[in-house]
Amino acid sequence: MSIENAKKQAGYAAVDQNLDPSDRIIGVGSGSTIVYVVERLGQLNTKNDLICIPTSFQAKQLIVENSLRLGSVDEFTEIDIAFDGADEIDSNLNLIKGGGACLFQEKLVASCAKRFIVVADYRKNTGLLGKDWRNGVPIEVNPLAYKKVIKGLMEIGGKPALREAGASKAGPVVTDNGNFVIDCDFGEVPSNQVQSLDAKLHSLVGVLETGLFVGMAKKAYIGEEDGSLTISK
Ligand code: 5RP
Repeated sequence: MSIENAKKQAGYAAVDQNLDPSDRIIGVGSGSTIVYVVERLGQLNTKNDLICIPTSFQAKQLIVENSLRLGSVDEFTEIDIAFDGADEIDSNLNLIKGGGACLFQEKLVASCAKRFIVVADYRKNTGLLGKDWRNGVPIEVNPLAYKKVIKGLMEIGGKPALREAGASKAGPVVTDNGNFVIDCDFGEVPSNQVQSLDAKLHSLVGVLETGLFVGMAKKAYIGEEDGSLTISK
């Protein structure tokens, strides 16, 4: 099965098996797997009853293109269910997210959600954060503080790199919130150390949010290479 089909399998099953008839307010993550979640939501007879809360400009476009109703997180701080992709998933459902630089809004929406469901293809389910995702942990920082944060990250043993826009050194990536992203490699992070690493990152002045999602996901739907589906809880 292609990776694309694995993503579709995960996205469709996550909606079919988790959306309750009473769910109205839906969080919509970002990336290439979430495309299939939104496609599925757009096929439902009840689609006009749903209000979708985006986590990025891309998510907003997906919601509109699939003729779903758009809401915002300041209107709805209680979200019935949120779906999102992940860059890496460990055996305790801790995540690395932010490969698409949307981590702050993604974490905000996930934190408002009663149920947070992850959708991914088999490459993401590594069992240990930092195992295959070589880019490190994405960290969104205020541009004024990025040099100081880089210094702080090195002091706590990380290998930080400011994320650049494209290969031609077009300058730093700027998030939907006007900030920079630093990707920081900490090597493999055992499940029982993810929380403390996240706390250390948050202690650096200028850090808005990190791509470590600790204990937030309720389930992960993983589309496998052989066409089967793994559901981790
Ligand atoms: C964006 C994200 C994405 O959800 C993550 O990068 C996974 O993307 P994809 O579904 O394309 O593999 O965190 O900030």
